[in-house]
Amino acid sequence: MRVLVTGSSGQIGTNLALRLQADGHEVFGVDKRQNTWTDAFPTLLQDLAGHYPAFPGGIGGVEYPEVDVVVHLAAHAKVHQLVRQPHRALENAIMTFNVLEYCRQLALPLVFSSTREVYGDVHRFEEYAEEAADFAFTESPYSAAKIASEAFIYAYARCYGLNYLVFRFSNVYGRYDNDLWRMDRVLPLFMHQLSRGEPITIFGGDEKVLDFTYVDDCVDGIARGVYAISEGRVANETINLAYGQGNTLVRAAELIATELSVEPTITLAPSLLGEVTHYVADIRKAHELLDWQPQTPLAEGIPKGVAWFQEWRAAHPEEDKPFVRPQSADELEHGFKQPTPA
Ligand SMILES: NC(=O)c1ccc[n+]([C@@H]2O[C@H](COP(=O)([O-])OP(=O)(O)OC[C@H]3O[C@@H](n4cnc5c(N)ncnc54)[C@H](O)[C@@H]3O)[C@@H](O)[C@H]2O)c1
Repeated sequence: MRVLVTGSSGQIGTNLALRLQADGHEVFGVDKRQNTWTDAFPTLLQDLAGHYPAFPGGIGGVEYPEVDVVVHLAAHAKVHQLVRQPHRALENAIMTFNVLEYCRQLALPLVFSSTREVYGDVHRFEEYAEEAADFAFTESPYSAAKIASEAFIYAYARCYGLNYLVFRFSNVYGRYDNDLWRMDRVLPLFMHQLSRGEPITIFGGDEKVLDFTYVDDCVDGIARGVYAISEGRVANETINLAYGQGNTLVRAAELIATELSVEPTITLAPSLLGEVTHYVADIRKAHELLDWQPQTPLAEGIPKGVAWFQEWRAAHPEEDKPFVRPQSADELEHGFKQPTPA
């Protein structure tokens, strides 16, 4: 199978592309950045958020190789950053539109990366089943763009016969996710700070409960979706992919500290604007449709994630520097420069 993966230089894209290759498939990546983790698959460098008039061959008229299915992961994926830079959220929606037009014109099936953010933060349910999403509870520009993207996809299915699968992810962690100068994610940030003996701050306090998903579980669900939609077994479904269990962020931090053999110094702070503070997924639909079952609870995933982090850090000691959160418009826009070897 030939799979086009957008956002292939990112965390999920890199893990997914390598998994699809290991399964014997061809991957063609599109991203606006070069992949910093691997050169195992080709990446076309292209900004997918442009206003493109042409789609035959590829987005913007660029020649893509022939593919059988598209996995659209490209996005500005940081919720709080998009509260500060809402035009980035609009770009996320434009990227989805461009990918949809490409799929429509070549009659390709689409697998899309949505998020638990579409459920909002209203603490309405114990567990969130797929039909619980309601755009009246849109929490942030990031959620708005994912809801808009989903809505476009459902409209394309009705009007143009698009075949799709929408996956809603939740806090994916474990590998190819510690490029903090580009994008700070909470668990890799804790690994970085705790490994340096630094204090950590938990926004959302000790009541913030999230559904953390080990990356191989997430990628296994997407791969099953890619195969199912390509073979015509499953189409036009929206599916949660998470572990299906809530854990406090404090527990996650403590597990990391234990794994690193450090005594953590934790400051609790109010939640950041736009962030979801409670989410546990109902994952029965993924099991029913894709025979998928996550394998890695947090207590097993954190040791794996920390082991990967330590291996990567040992090979990249130049990254062992204090973390500074991007503040200026330019830093928010481009991230910090990658640390250079001392
Ligand atoms: N990782 C998670 O926990 C999580 C949770 C829910 C949803 N998601 C969604 O899954 C997808 C993948 O997430 P990720 O964690 O791998 O994010 P990521 O930031 O690591 O990867 C996204 C990639 O998209 C690329 N990109 C951004 N703007 C682009 C543009 N204009 N043109 C081309 N490429 C562009 C980035 O360069 C990056 O490599 C995203 O859509 C994200 O919103 C992720």
